[in-house]
Amino acid sequence: MNGTVELIIDGQTLKLPTYVGTEGEVGIDIGTLRSKTGAITLDPAYGNTGACKSAITFIDGEKGILQYRGYDIAELAVRSTFIETAYLLIYGELPTKDQLDEFSQLLSQNQMLHADMRFHFDAFPPSAHPMSILSAMIHASSSYPSPVTHGKPAREVFPFHAARLISQVRTIATSSYRKAHGLPPSYPRSHLNYTENFLHMMFSLPGEEYVPNPEIVRALDLIFLLHADHEQNCSTSTVRMVASSQANVFASASAGVCALWGPLHGGANQAVLEMLEEIHLEGDDGTKFLNAVKNKDGNRRLMGFGHRVYKNFDPRAVIIKEQCDKVLGQLHKSDPLLDIAKKLEEIALHDDYFVSRKLYPNVDFYSGIIMRAIGIPMDMFTVMFAIGRMPGWVANYKEVMDDTDSRISRPRQIYTGEKLRQYTALSDRA
Ligand code: CMC
Repeated sequence: MNGTVELIIDGQTLKLPTYVGTEGEVGIDIGTLRSKTGAITLDPAYGNTGACKSAITFIDGEKGILQYRGYDIAELAVRSTFIETAYLLIYGELPTKDQLDEFSQLLSQNQMLHADMRFHFDAFPPSAHPMSILSAMIHASSSYPSPVTHGKPAREVFPFHAARLISQVRTIATSSYRKAHGLPPSYPRSHLNYTENFLHMMFSLPGEEYVPNPEIVRALDLIFLLHADHEQNCSTSTVRMVASSQANVFASASAGVCALWGPLHGGANQAVLEMLEEIHLEGDDGTKFLNAVKNKDGNRRLMGFGHRVYKNFDPRAVIIKEQCDKVLGQLHKSDPLLDIAKKLEEIALHDDYFVSRKLYPNVDFYSGIIMRAIGIPMDMFTVMFAIGRMPGWVANYKEVMDDTDSRISRPRQIYTGEKLRQYTALSDRA
């Protein structure tokens, strides 16, 4: 507690303590508001509400700053890897060599799905969206306890469950891809690292040695790293909300996948590509589309633009845009959708509609173009986001579990319905 503010409500003065975070953000602790005044705060979509204290990720949306555990995202992007960053997010410090080896080994030991889980995959129709398969399978995997963790207290098994989730989200994603494309199962190889194994499990063919292209491995690892955490966004808040009821980490992560799926959140990467394809098919260079967005024709939005927190630039988007040019160059590919995306960005960044609303490209604007170049189908883009976000969800789950003051999350509401009235018999209703 670092100070107080005074709130005058119906002539009554209430002193409320303030809490200042390590980067100077101020939160007013309204813990006594309702008991002392009977009033609650009303903040739909939580734009002004801090739901927790957290030591994992810091964002300054005005300055375009994103830090994981105090490390700048741009530095991690150049110097770290997804798995090292996952460890950092979950355990708070960069791992030593031994810790990283142990963590990687735990991931390898937990990468295989229980063999019976293939029956669940078989039960999905071919048209099932990979995100619905992902959330169902993550949840289902909690029904297959490992002999190592069975019956042990949650705190003791956490490192195993964390490793299992991070490792198996990739196995589930690739298994659903292979099933949808009529490919035989492909199992992880112990000599490959996390991201190499993802590519191997996706694209290897029977009877052929799959050698992952190092440039593609690096680009994909970077995409996972850039998505690894993002403070109290919709899916992470969902994970924390579910965790607050002391549900297990699989149930909490599965709920996170569901929240991520929406086009205003992680589903935006698929929506961006659909939008770019539509513009391309119509022979538009983006101008007509942007006019429709500005005139709010059909409630269209420029997908991949805007963010609740970033009001200047999204540092992840800057890194991804550079990577996008690099990957396409290295693969000697050109993509008309990249040209359209660049044109849209150029127009929007100079257009009063977008400038006055502080709408800039977000992480999803260019990531889909890289994934398309790698050969990942569009309906799997949000799954890729979920693979990347898993360490962040796990870290936030751990923070809830470790917080001895944690209580079940239970917001209040302002009721706007009917006042008490009498029941009308069916025969008397008009
Ligand atoms: N295109 C056109 N107009 C927009 C856009 C957009 N992408 N985003 C916001 N606006 C307008 C909106 O219509 C509103 O205008 P007005 O004041 O005239 O009514 C104003 O900007 C404020 O919008 P809002 O919906 O109140 O803003 P928000 O903070 O609630 O929404 C957002 C944030 C990310 C959901 C929104 O910007 C959006 O829908 N963007 C497109 C979807 C997208 O790219 N989502 C991915 C976000 S980054 C990945 C992640 O972490 O989830």
